[in-house]
Amino acid sequence: MRRQRRLTTFFICLLLGASMGAHAGPAEDRKALIEYYKQQLPDIKFENYNMGALAMNRDAMDQYDSIMTFPPFVLDVDVGRVIWEKPFKNAKHFSDCFPDGGKNIAGNYPYFDNASGKVVTFENAINACLKANGEAELKYDSREIGLVTAYAKSLSDGMKVNVKVSGPGALAAYEKGKQFYYGRRGQLNFSCSICHIDNVGKFTRSEQLSMMIGQAAHWPEFREGTELLTLQGRFRQCNKNTRSVPLEFNSEEYNNLEYFLTYMSNGLPMQTPVFRK
Ligand code: HEC
Repeated sequence: MRRQRRLTTFFICLLLGASMGAHAGPAEDRKALIEYYKQQLPDIKFENYNMGALAMNRDAMDQYDSIMTFPPFVLDVDVGRVIWEKPFKNAKHFSDCFPDGGKNIAGNYPYFDNASGKVVTFENAINACLKANGEAELKYDSREIGLVTAYAKSLSDGMKVNVKVSGPGALAAYEKGKQFYYGRRGQLNFSCSICHIDNVGKFTRSEQLSMMIGQAAHWPEFREGTELLTLQGRFRQCNKNTRSVPLEFNSEEYNNLEYFLTYMSNGLPMQTPVFRK
């Protein structure tokens, strides 16, 4: 009898220990969300998640396909190419700052840099390259950084997003991004997750809410006219739409959020640049 009770206590401790040890990490978070979306959106294949709301609407997808046959942003991307190819004063180029001349590398961003203790976005790498070569850095809200990023990322078109979270610093940055995502803010007291997770596929005004997995794989976007929107520009819009004060481009909070959100798009092909309404 006593022995049996002791054994039971032993097993309860074992179970408790196991459940405490099994703290959900990035891989589990992502898996759970993929499962959730599969149930909510059974007709949409995982490989189409980076099409976002377009994957939910045949007409919108047809329109998108026809726009992409002769994309209106071709000349803008060409301006980006000119910036990318222009030699620095020391005769070096952007392509010297990246492995393989910058081909198939953008899917590795953002990454966590242990030395600085910070998330490094692709735009940060562009500016680090300018700085290292004695050139003036670009403003994060400038059209120029958007254009050069659009061209540079087109060199990684089709690469699968491959963001890594390993080590305590990286995990802490990921967790901060995740907290931001699930945290309520602004006058309307919305979190990102209320729209893009809880209400995925539903309409707000005329727009259908996209799934967050896949959202980070296609930036910057070109919109109607010649408007160019970066991912953090989109964060600002979504913050403003819920009457929350948008943060600065390249703020630590947005960089952590971008890190978290891009990790969630792992395994999906990058597509840059793209058109969105
Ligand atoms: C009130 C609902 C709402 C909230 C809250 C919200 N969004 Fe959005 N978001 C939208 C709508 C509507 C769109 C445009 C349709 C779409 O693509 O989902 C959008 C689009 C986006 C896109 C672009 C999707 C694409 O593939 O082009 C991203 C990225 C995004 N939101 C991220 C966020 C983040 C991060 C937050 C939290 C800071 C957030 N959203 C909060 C409604 C919301």
